[in-house]
Amino acid sequence: MEDGTSDGAAATTGVAAWNFAPNEALLGLTGLSVRGVLGKVKAGMVVEDDGRPVVPLGHGDPSEFPCFRTAPEAVDAVAAALRSGEHNSYSTSVGLEPARRSISQYLSRDLPYELSADDVYLTSGCAQAIEIVCSVLARHGANNILLPRPGYLFYEARAVFNGMEARYFDLVPDRGWEVDLDSLQAIADGNTVAMVIVNPGNPCGNVYTYEHLAKVADTARKLGIFVVADEVYAHLTFGEKKFVPMGVFGSVVPVLTLGSISKRWVVPGWRLGWIVTNDPNGVLHRTKVVDSIKSYLDISADPPTFVQGAIPQLIENTKQEFFDQTVEILRQTADICWEKLKGISCITCPSKPEGSMFVMVKLDLSCLQDIKDDMDFCCRLAKEELVVVLPGCAVGYKNWLRITFAIAPSSLEDGLDRLKSFCVRHSKPNM
Ligand SMILES: Cc1ncc(COP(=O)(O)O)c(C=O)c1O
Repeated sequence: MEDGTSDGAAATTGVAAWNFAPNEALLGLTGLSVRGVLGKVKAGMVVEDDGRPVVPLGHGDPSEFPCFRTAPEAVDAVAAALRSGEHNSYSTSVGLEPARRSISQYLSRDLPYELSADDVYLTSGCAQAIEIVCSVLARHGANNILLPRPGYLFYEARAVFNGMEARYFDLVPDRGWEVDLDSLQAIADGNTVAMVIVNPGNPCGNVYTYEHLAKVADTARKLGIFVVADEVYAHLTFGEKKFVPMGVFGSVVPVLTLGSISKRWVVPGWRLGWIVTNDPNGVLHRTKVVDSIKSYLDISADPPTFVQGAIPQLIENTKQEFFDQTVEILRQTADICWEKLKGISCITCPSKPEGSMFVMVKLDLSCLQDIKDDMDFCCRLAKEELVVVLPGCAVGYKNWLRITFAIAPSSLEDGLDRLKSFCVRHSKPNM
């Protein structure tokens, strides 16, 4: 500044003090993002030409592996939408009607009632669906949302950024990561607006039964809150339990279902997701939640029009064989993971994953001689073995790890062998 109190650059150029400053709230939020934490884990990793590839067990995007390549029918649908020349314009703010209709029919296959195109709002991946729901609900400082722990911290990041309090209920490891309904009820109050469940689960690999979801619905109904059902991993199940959509309970309690094509079609880069109102009693309309979603969409960017244009063909033409093959590879890699982890003494895995792409494992730090915590473990594992794993702190569970098994089977075996060597090398003597 001209009075000499500012930095040298401003003084020498004769510019007054800068008026701008960043939104400070954002600077603390990277700790709540998988990308932010993985960035720190990978920071010390030096990839040398020694022939050892990096093994990515940290994030849920297997699209780089040929065995997880998307269905040719999906590629054809997008190519045809592009070639048609009919999808070069802006979309409507809620999304193109044929795409919404086709998603409503696709989701209705598993419901006891029919959704209509008007129940579906298109978003830029499931991530934008989360962003919208958290923005729509937040009344600055006046309300709270109930989130699972361990969980997908993007919900907390978006809630907190909008000035809404995030409160955590527990998932119980010994009961297949079911919701602890007592802990849920204990944290709710008159300012609680909604609860989130992720099924199939990230980070736990859980799949909930019809009976458990029915109890969740009854509890939410009793509390007067609605359920946000994150079903981005819908149908990626490979254990005994079949996927049951939360929307089945839409007449007990209103449900906002969030989803996308990112995981089932293995195309996270195509950025096409949805918010769906599963609410045959029209509660979300009467309480104007639906109007707020529409208003939000009016002031935000849309998913690419040509991907929207491809949706009817993509859904109609993708063969069951493709879905079966993806699930079969996940079954195989979940088995590999389960068996190999049993052979690592400082790691315990409470339950075999039955869905999604992840498993949560507990680190026994007392067996390790020079590792401080989960973050330290992951940073050193990345540096020494070029294996990237997500520390539990990134999912709200200190001193656990989240391991992704959705990679090529041979790479997974290699990565888990290196994880074992690391643990052996750092074990206390006689362990
Ligand atoms: C539980 C959960 N919800 C939402 C998302 C975001 O999905 P999308 O890639 O469709 O934005 C992810 C991505 O990994 C996720 O794991």
